[in-house]
Amino acid sequence: MKKALCLLMSLVMVVAMLTACGSSSSSDNKVGVSMPTKTLQRWNQDGSNMKEQLEKKGYEVDLQFADGTADVQVNQIENMISNGCKVLVISAIDGKSLGTVLATAKEKGVKVIAYDRLIMDTDAVTYYATFDNFKVGVKQGEYIEEKLGLKTNAGPFNIELIAGSPDDNNAHIFFEGAMSILQQYIDNGKLNVKSGQKTFEQVATQDWKTENAQSRFEALIASNYADGTQLDAVMASNDSTALGVANALANSYTGKYPILTGQDCDIANVKNMINGKQSMSIFKDTRDLAAKTTEMVDAILKGGEPPINNTKDYDNGKFVVPSYLCDPVFADANNYVTLLVDSGYYKAEELK
Ligand code: BGC
Repeated sequence: MKKALCLLMSLVMVVAMLTACGSSSSSDNKVGVSMPTKTLQRWNQDGSNMKEQLEKKGYEVDLQFADGTADVQVNQIENMISNGCKVLVISAIDGKSLGTVLATAKEKGVKVIAYDRLIMDTDAVTYYATFDNFKVGVKQGEYIEEKLGLKTNAGPFNIELIAGSPDDNNAHIFFEGAMSILQQYIDNGKLNVKSGQKTFEQVATQDWKTENAQSRFEALIASNYADGTQLDAVMASNDSTALGVANALANSYTGKYPILTGQDCDIANVKNMINGKQSMSIFKDTRDLAAKTTEMVDAILKGGEPPINNTKDYDNGKFVVPSYLCDPVFADANNYVTLLVDSGYYKAEELK
C-alpha cells in the first residue's frame, strides 16, 4: 500500500514537472492569433496562413476564432495571455472593446500586433499590419467613375451605396476612399442616390453580414426601383455585402444589371464575377499580409527591424501606430485566372 502510494506520488511529481517544463519552454515562443469569425471566408484563410507561416519559423501558435462576438474575443485573448503567449496577433471584432484586456497584456510585457483592422484607443498596440484601406475604396470609386464615364458623360446615373460594420475602423476608411472619388459626382448631379441614403451611418452594414445587406437592399429596391427605374451602380465595400446586394437583385430587380463592386475575392463572389453578377472585387493576398505580420513577430521576439512603411496615417486615438500597408489589387472576370488561380490562391475547381 505504502509502496503504491509512493509510486503514485512520484508519478504525480513527474507529471507536474513535465507540465511546468512544457509551459515555460513553449511560452517563450508562443504566439496567440485571434481572428474575428469563421463565418466570413477570408478570416479562415488569414488564420491558417498565419498559423502555417509562424509555425514554419518555429513558433508555437494558439489560433482562435471569436465567433463574431466581442466578449468571446476578449475571453480568448485573456486565455492567450494567461497561457503564456508573448505576442498577440489580433484582428478585432470591435476595435474599441479591447482596451482593458490589452492593458493586462501590456502589464505582462505581451506585445500586440493589430492585424488587418486597427485596434483603437489603447497604447498597448506595437504595430499594425494591413492593406492600404483608403486605396481599396479609391479603386472601387474609380471603377464606377470609369465604367459610367463620369468624367465626360452628363448622366444622371442612379447609384446606391453599401458600407461595412460601424465597429470596424476599416469600414469607415473604405467608405471615405470610395467617396473621395464619388462625392463630387453626387454634388454635381451626375450621380443620383435615389434612396437618399448617403451617409456612412445610413449605409453601414452591422457585422458586415450578407443577410443584413440583403434585407436593406430588398427594402431599398422595393421603394425605389420596383417600377422599372434603372439602377446603374452599387458601391459595395466588400464581398459579403456585395453578395447580399446580388441576392436582393436576383429576388426583386428586373432592370439591367448594375455595376457592382466588392472586396476580398471570396469564392462565391468570384463565381458571381465570372457569371456577370458582380463587376469587380479587390484582391488582398492574405499570404502577403501573413508574411509581413510574421516578420513583425520575428522583430519583436528575435530582434531586428520590423517591416514598416507608414508612420502617419493610422492614429488609433492614442498614437499613430507604426504600420505596414500591403497593396490591394483590382480583380475582375478578365484577370482572375492569373491573379487567383495561377498564383495558387485558389484551385480552378473551387471556382466552378
Ligand atoms: C476587412 C475586409 C473584410 C471585412 C469583413 C474588414 O476589416 O479588411 O477584407 O471584407 O472586414 O470581414
